[in-house]
Amino acid sequence: MDLTSVPRIKLANLPTPLERAEQLGKYLGIEQFYIKRDDLTGLALGGNKARKLEFELASVKAAGFDTVITVGGQQSNHARMTAAACRKLGIDIKLVLGGEDFSELKGNLLLDAFFEAEIRYLNGSDEDADLENMMNRWKSELIDSGKNPYAMPLGGSTPTGVLGYVEAMREIGTQIKHKNMQLILPVGSCGTLAGVVLGADIFLEEAGIIGISVSRTKESIYERTRKLIDETKKKFRLREGYKIQDFDVYDNYHEVYARHIKPAKDAARVCAMTEGLIVDQVYTAKAMAGFFDLISKGIIRKESPVIFIHTGGMPEIFAETIKYGEYQGCVKFSAKEYRSGK
Ligand SMILES: Cc1ncc(COP(=O)(O)O)c(C=O)c1O
Repeated sequence: MDLTSVPRIKLANLPTPLERAEQLGKYLGIEQFYIKRDDLTGLALGGNKARKLEFELASVKAAGFDTVITVGGQQSNHARMTAAACRKLGIDIKLVLGGEDFSELKGNLLLDAFFEAEIRYLNGSDEDADLENMMNRWKSELIDSGKNPYAMPLGGSTPTGVLGYVEAMREIGTQIKHKNMQLILPVGSCGTLAGVVLGADIFLEEAGIIGISVSRTKESIYERTRKLIDETKKKFRLREGYKIQDFDVYDNYHEVYARHIKPAKDAARVCAMTEGLIVDQVYTAKAMAGFFDLISKGIIRKESPVIFIHTGGMPEIFAETIKYGEYQGCVKFSAKEYRSGK
């Protein structure tokens, strides 16, 4: 089936740049190292979800839903971007979020409030089952009050949403031509990985794909991703009868979802110091840390091009603060004393 006939609404600035990262490549010993800048998709500070939402919300609009409810963790990028897109499309937005307690709305949560999303916060849990249960109960309440709500699963990872990354692989195929490229990306709810695997199979020649888990076990990622690929193939009659290529998943580069860890902080520092590049601590820094380790173990081939898919997550950076004094590079001068020449 030709994907151009599937309903799609423009929400992202595409194509995103495929940037050569020479300094970081040199540091890692990879000559052809690229970063696919999906942090620059544009929608409400960007990220991978814009691609999924172009398809997912087009189908929500076509079906006549007037409200979207979706779920995520406290710093969910998916929730922030869905809220922004819904405002743009005139759809009401409700968010079920969960995780640790908080006293200030910062980062993505601040932006959820900025878009005036109605939020129900499950204090103390960001388990999928708890959040989905809360979403379904809210959905029933909304139906009883005469609304027509669509409950969007975690991460927008549905067969329709998967098309966003199938199309992203078409985009990469127009930006670089090479057999045996290796693609590296972080994995959460698996919709991005499913699209990358399916799209690489259609549009790229023999690409190797490596997903780095930020939360789930390897087994759970294989199961969810393969299921999503099968459902997408069936629904849109893609690659019927073909065996989908293999992909590798590593689940040893995180502790608990959303928790910041030292290897990710170190990897973020390397990105900042070599490329002036920002990676977030929940997704992209963990994937970078995993990627660095896989290079040191000889698992990444250094002789063929490597593409790191930067999936965004920028607002989470601003959920953190550094206390004055903790950063030695910043010194305060008294303006009064400075003027008087002391
Ligand atoms: C910045 C960022 N990177 C990666 C992912 C993972 O994408 P997926 O949920 O499709 O696996 C997410 C998901 O929320 C994200 O926000």
